[in-house]
Amino acid sequence: MNREPRIAISPGSFDPLTNGHVDIIQRGARLFDRIIIAILVNREKTPLFTAEERVEIAREVFASDGNVEVDTFGGLLVEYARRRQASVIVRGLRAVSDFEYEMQMALMNRHLSPELETVFMMPGEAYTYLSSRLVKEVFALGGSVEGLVPPAVERRLLVKR
Ligand code: PNS
Repeated sequence: MNREPRIAISPGSFDPLTNGHVDIIQRGARLFDRIIIAILVNREKTPLFTAEERVEIAREVFASDGNVEVDTFGGLLVEYARRRQASVIVRGLRAVSDFEYEMQMALMNRHLSPELETVFMMPGEAYTYLSSRLVKEVFALGGSVEGLVPPAVERRLLVKR
């Protein structure tokens, strides 16, 4: 039976991409025909990495994953999903503390676009404590982020230091 390719979007700030994000995107890539990493631009006034750098990093990390695409978006996520003909939003859920924020977003997106489904996936347990915010903090205070982020991020962080 022929069917339309199932396209998923993994949206986020990815400032920076962590190994937890990579884990979720790889899980999504196994479930869907294509997964688009959609990097939100212009949210923070002073991001650690520019949108261009974040795109470059994600492209480097997923260079050998044929069904993973990297793109940027601004404005409403549901509009972007419509433009890209995506039917699913993929988000990682680490702990109960993520739940409220994620539920609000999922229900708002469903209100705006009822046919767009949000799918939550649990990362490997090694990543349950990991967030971009903490990576930035550890890095800013001189700590090592080895094993927390892909080498492509670590390399660029060391250059910034
Ligand atoms: O990695 P983050 O910062 O938790 O990702 C949040 C993101 C980018 C998924 C969310 O802020 C978003 O979708 N922003 C786009 C604006 C939007 O559509 N807002 C209304 C629905 S919540």
